[in-house]
Amino acid sequence: MNTISETKELTQTGEEEFSPAQWSAIDAIIERHKFKPGSLIPVLEEIQETVGYIPTCIQERAALGLIVPLSEVHGVVTFYHFFTTTPRGRHTIRCCLGTACYVRGGQGNLNEVIEELHISPGDTTADRRFSLETVRCLGACGLAPVMMVDEDTHRQVKSSKVQEIIKDYD
Ligand code: FES
Repeated sequence: MNTISETKELTQTGEEEFSPAQWSAIDAIIERHKFKPGSLIPVLEEIQETVGYIPTCIQERAALGLIVPLSEVHGVVTFYHFFTTTPRGRHTIRCCLGTACYVRGGQGNLNEVIEELHISPGDTTADRRFSLETVRCLGACGLAPVMMVDEDTHRQVKSSKVQEIIKDYD
């Protein structure tokens, strides 16, 4: 059985992305939940809340610390959409491509965001200002096309207004 200190030596990939204080916080979360059945998802949630994302090095640490196969940790991280393996931007843009939004110009709005930020859906800008996602419906079809930035819903968005919307988020 590996202890947390042993797992530190085993875990190398991407370790330098996190500070010693962040690794201590991650280890504390794992230790707190160790030996508790069904603790994998709560542990990963808590780690993501603490450091923002769950790259391979953290998946390895969790697997070794909780004594579960790495494949199981990886499976959970990739199955649930709320887990992310890459750093997130300070703001998340969600462009709706559901039918109502699509036929009213949603794709054009998405293209405008892509052109403005030089990223594709699923990516984050190099300065970590924005992450970009597409969604299939935001439940506001009557206001299509809809685009969300964080919790703000922008309605009946014209592609000519996209740049203006984005610039309001630092
Ligand atoms: S299709 Fe876009 S909000 Fe429903």
